[in-house]
Amino acid sequence: MTTAPNTSPAAASLLPKGRPLAGGQRTGRPQYLEIRGLRVVFDGFTAVDGVNLDVTQGDLRFLIGPNGAGKTTIIDAITGLVPATGSVNHTGTEILGRKVHRIAKLGVGRTFQTASVFENLSVLQNLDIAAGSRRRPLELLRRRRNTEPAVEEALEIIGLERLASRQAGTLAHGQKQWLEIGMLLVQNSELLLLDEPIAGMSQDERAQTGELLRRIGANRITLVIEHDMDFVREYATSVTVLAAGKVLSEGSVAQVQADPRVQEVYLGAAPAEGH
Ligand SMILES: Nc1ncnc2c1ncn2[C@@H]1O[C@H](COP(=O)(O)OP(=O)(O)OP(=O)(O)O)[C@@H](O)[C@H]1O
Ligand SMILES: [Mg+2]
Repeated sequence: MTTAPNTSPAAASLLPKGRPLAGGQRTGRPQYLEIRGLRVVFDGFTAVDGVNLDVTQGDLRFLIGPNGAGKTTIIDAITGLVPATGSVNHTGTEILGRKVHRIAKLGVGRTFQTASVFENLSVLQNLDIAAGSRRRPLELLRRRRNTEPAVEEALEIIGLERLASRQAGTLAHGQKQWLEIGMLLVQNSELLLLDEPIAGMSQDERAQTGELLRRIGANRITLVIEHDMDFVREYATSVTVLAAGKVLSEGSVAQVQADPRVQEVYLGAAPAEGH
């Protein structure tokens, strides 16, 4: 088996021979995220107020907006961490209202602002565990002996091949974030939801992360929450601006920057770096 378990023969035939695909196409058709009327209410406070959002495969969509706009809550709602109403359609499947682990199994992967890797395990062990989450016990035993192709590929994509045996807790901040992204890749996440992935990174790490997002975003649906406008300008293919739980503006970076409503929101409350 040289292809990921959920890669159809049609999609696999489009791939370079002998190259496993970590994540990617479930079918030959482009995948999409279609959110309609998403609403999240906390004790009478409406944090997400009727959001519509469309992201297609290959798009590197950035979600920006002032602190408290509801950006993280949107990702929490998509991934089942907070109750929400409306509709979240991932390539024909309604995922809203399903359990967290079901949503993950449907190819939805997220990162948190604070990297959540197993600090006491090696880089490789972290990836192995992530890869195992979709495998049956017998398969897990059989593949334990050799590094699984998807794990090898993820190691290469995130640039941690030479650190495979390093204990994850000793990695630099940026490397931990890359490992977390690698864990999503081996889980075959087709929809990536990344919450401020470059927060706290050095300039070098930011640039490397940008290139990583470009590579992995090419065949996935990618939504990235980010405050750093230089980074957004450099890497976004499109931007959605959220304010007070509502979509304020959407389009290319140039389009949203030229939007007077966006300027007003940012002049009123300059976005902070991180939290
Ligand atoms: N579990 C919760 N209970 C009550 N209120 C919450 C909860 N989670 C978030 N909120 C509130 O919902 C609003 C949106 O929060 P959210 O974390 O989504 O904002 P954000 O856009 O991600 O902001 P930041 O840029 O600071 O990360 C905020 O007013 C926040 O205080
Ligand atoms: Mg947030």
